[in-house]
Amino acid sequence: AKFLILHGPNLNLLGTREPEIYGADTLEDINTELSSQCNEAGHEVSFFQSNAEHELIERIHRARTEQVDIIIINPAAYTHTSVALRDALAGVAIPFIEVHLSNVHAREPFRHHSYFSDTAIGVICGFGVHSYRLAISAAIEKLR
Ligand code: DQA
Repeated sequence: AKFLILHGPNLNLLGTREPEIYGADTLEDINTELSSQCNEAGHEVSFFQSNAEHELIERIHRARTEQVDIIIINPAAYTHTSVALRDALAGVAIPFIEVHLSNVHAREPFRHHSYFSDTAIGVICGFGVHSYRLAISAAIEKLR
């Protein structure tokens, strides 16, 4: 199957960005690890990070043409603000899993609401890089 992993704004700074919250791994480290996890299970995977809402939206639109089977998305700050990204996912009707490195529920109240959770297959947060690994395992099971 085809996986698409989307990373929202500021996640390009991983490794140096608030490491006490987000860990020491860079986005490249994370993608390399996830790439092996998908390939070992016999799946294809692509990655995309952007700080711009419209680029993430356009990448989601392209996923439909590419016949992506499942999206793993960390919408980052757009989690709490973006009706447009939510609508893009609904528009292409590709099932998705929402991921966060940190436990958003243990942080500021404005991080407690997500525009994505009620339309996601499931939500994983609070396990750092492992959140992504858990999401991919869940996706692999789901597609079996
Ligand atoms: C995040 C949590 C968001 O609240 C925050 O804006 C991020 C990262 C996480 O992975 O923990 O940028 O999505």
